[in-house]
Amino acid sequence: MKDLCVLIMAAGKGTRMVSERAKVLHGLCGRPMLRLVYDAAAALEPDDILIVIGQDADRVRDAWSGYPATFIFQAEQLGTGHALIAARKELEKRAGDALVLFGDAPRIRPSTLERLAAHHRSSAADLTLLTAHAPDPYAYGRILRDAQGRIQAIVEEKDATAAQRLITEVNPGFYCFRIPALLDSLGSLTNENAQKEYYVTDLVEIERRAGRKVETLLHPDFQELRGINTRRELAETAAALRAEKNRSLMAAGVTLIDPERTYVDLDVVVHKDATLHPLVTLEGNTVVGEGTTVRSGTRICNSKIGADAVILDCSLITDACIGDRATVGPFAHVRQGTVVGSRCRVGNFVEIKKSTLGDGTKAAHLAYLGDAEIGAEVNIGAGTITCNYDGVRKHPTTIEDGAFIGTDAQLVAPVRIGRGSYVAAGSCITEDVPPDSLAIARSRQTVKKGWARRRKRPGKSHD
Ligand code: UD1
Ligand code: CA
Repeated sequence: MKDLCVLIMAAGKGTRMVSERAKVLHGLCGRPMLRLVYDAAAALEPDDILIVIGQDADRVRDAWSGYPATFIFQAEQLGTGHALIAARKELEKRAGDALVLFGDAPRIRPSTLERLAAHHRSSAADLTLLTAHAPDPYAYGRILRDAQGRIQAIVEEKDATAAQRLITEVNPGFYCFRIPALLDSLGSLTNENAQKEYYVTDLVEIERRAGRKVETLLHPDFQELRGINTRRELAETAAALRAEKNRSLMAAGVTLIDPERTYVDLDVVVHKDATLHPLVTLEGNTVVGEGTTVRSGTRICNSKIGADAVILDCSLITDACIGDRATVGPFAHVRQGTVVGSRCRVGNFVEIKKSTLGDGTKAAHLAYLGDAEIGAEVNIGAGTITCNYDGVRKHPTTIEDGAFIGTDAQLVAPVRIGRGSYVAAGSCITEDVPPDSLAIARSRQTVKKGWARRRKRPGKSHD
């Protein structure tokens, strides 16, 4: 939208969250609260987005790299009206309209903001605000109307009379201001009220008394406009967003065995015909390929899983890539920059870190593979360990295509196992193994016949 800027108020402390962190940085389904508001605003393609910060300002700013915004620092939080006063200099540089929102009401939809701005413009108003009927209006500003139904003012809970508190039409806190009128009215704000704060809500009465046009738009869905003030509301809102995300996945062809127990972050992509079992958690920028199954208790974070793969129960995959038709788990831990090729098998109690596995390679049970470059069609026996750390530095292990590592082998890095070679079970490999060879690195077995019998009956038998 042209000649429109958005201002998001996010300077408050959010005392009721009982947190050291700014409220707006608390996350919902993988995105900070403020990002959700920002994304909804950005969808309108405004000229720019201003964010008023104060409490925990540095952390908010730091969390914001990559998303264009103009930050306004409100050193003291003297109220929502004061946040606009703090933004005066920035607003003076702009004409047109300002959409003013709160950073703690993250369920707002772009279409609702669009309707607010469109109504404001089509009615040539100086100020337009959304209103809604709240089942429990407690803590909200109430909308006061005259006999003709025209808005007169907003009265805050703490300033309201008992009769006013019975009003259920509330101010959810979404406004569209004509900037020149707003700048003119800001000077009239005072803090003569119960909270000794400058209220943005007082601008309704100020504008109206100045003979300007104040419009309201009743929004039917109060839940969408609700703000978050407590951890409980944070959890409830997250649950609502999660349910929406899960519905959209199902609509796109993903099977969710139990949608109420499936935790998928908003930025996650799951392709069609994938199946997510109960208690699966998909986080960050994860992508799950077409036809892939993820079984219960698995968490996948910032990882890409190919098509027709199977991730078995209780596996943890972070910052990794898993190829098409691979099988991982149960109880596998794949992490930090690992790339598992297609058709690979990573079995139970296998941990892999910063390693690549070529296509068709198998590590079926009980192994640690760290800093390893492993070729295609390699067999890693149960209990294999890459000894990659000497207490000071990490060292690489290279295993070439088609090698066979017997069970319980220790590969002391840096070391290379040549193409097609065998490492005998129980070996401790400290030197490179050339291609097509067999390496055995274990002491020879000695058998003392009859030793056990003699031990049980000393001096009796001499055969
Ligand atoms: C405000 C409204 C109330 C409305 C309610 C909806 C006022 C006076 N009242 O009350 O009518 O029903 O929201 O949730 O506006 N903030 C700043 N700087 C400040 C103060 C607040 O940036 O100096 C930000 C906060 O970070 C927060 C938002 O503004 O995101 C709302 O502030 P808050 O003090 O919680 O207002 P409410 O009392 O909820
Ligand atoms: Ca609030």
